[in-house]
Amino acid sequence: MTALEVHALSHSFGGLTALADVSLAVAPGERLAIIGPNGAGKTTLFNIVTGIFRPSAGRVRLFGRDVTRLPTHHRAQLGLARTFQISTLFPRLTVLESVLLAVQGLDPARFVLYRRRAAYGRLLERAESLLAEWGLADRAHQVTRQLSYGEQRQVELILALAGAPKVLLLDEPTAGLSPAETASVAEMIRRFSRDTTILLIEHDMDVALDLVDRVTVLFQGRVLAEGSKDEVRRDPKVAAIYFGTDDA
Ligand SMILES: Nc1ncnc2c1ncn2[C@@H]1O[C@H](COP(=O)(O)OP(=O)(O)OP(=O)(O)O)[C@@H](O)[C@H]1O
Ligand SMILES: [Mg+2]
Repeated sequence: MTALEVHALSHSFGGLTALADVSLAVAPGERLAIIGPNGAGKTTLFNIVTGIFRPSAGRVRLFGRDVTRLPTHHRAQLGLARTFQISTLFPRLTVLESVLLAVQGLDPARFVLYRRRAAYGRLLERAESLLAEWGLADRAHQVTRQLSYGEQRQVELILALAGAPKVLLLDEPTAGLSPAETASVAEMIRRFSRDTTILLIEHDMDVALDLVDRVTVLFQGRVLAEGSKDEVRRDPKVAAIYFGTDDA
């Protein structure tokens, strides 16, 4: 069974075709990069997979179940999580408070709002252990706005992991980072459990290819190429859009 499958997906914004007949499938535990130039349709694909947009045509399946018409929160309950291209942290919360909110989402008693101390204690423990696991324990009581941009991106990844997602969509997790920050975020993604299937949108082809098993290249809303890292690296159509040779 596939973890995630999109079949013949198309989407338009007014007269603009953002996606045209895109199909792809990802096996459980697999890591797939989605690369392609600005405006290729990468984020639109994630918005359709998560249910922010309803596609003009095509289907989305999560572990074999057709979720094309399910609302976003229902897909999240089925184990789908994402991060966004633009930071979505609450700037005034501390790192620990932010992670607490995210782990709270897992707790069936979450609407009881910390009435029971024991329940709160368990959530706090889980939040603290996540921060320790990912090397951010010493940042727990800092306000997220005060962190470096690279650390903010790491906190966003921890928030996404807090729900123990089965399928995780990462939209340019290294966008705007320095080379050193990019390296630490990439290292973090490399350490993610293989229990989580990952789709990674990444501008930098070297960073992308280093982190994944397989690659799909989108160009002008269509799948231009797909395959193993070597196949995609050697594909002249891909070289043409990335390096400007003109035989595409
Ligand atoms: N909400 C929207 N309304 C109208 N047009 C949109 C909307 N979202 C995306 N588009 C258009 O659809 C096309 C695909 O955009 P999308 O954001 O999916 O590209 P992308 O591959 O993620 O690009 P980037 O690398 O710049 O993030 C673009 O032409 C974009 O301008
Ligand atoms: Mg995008």
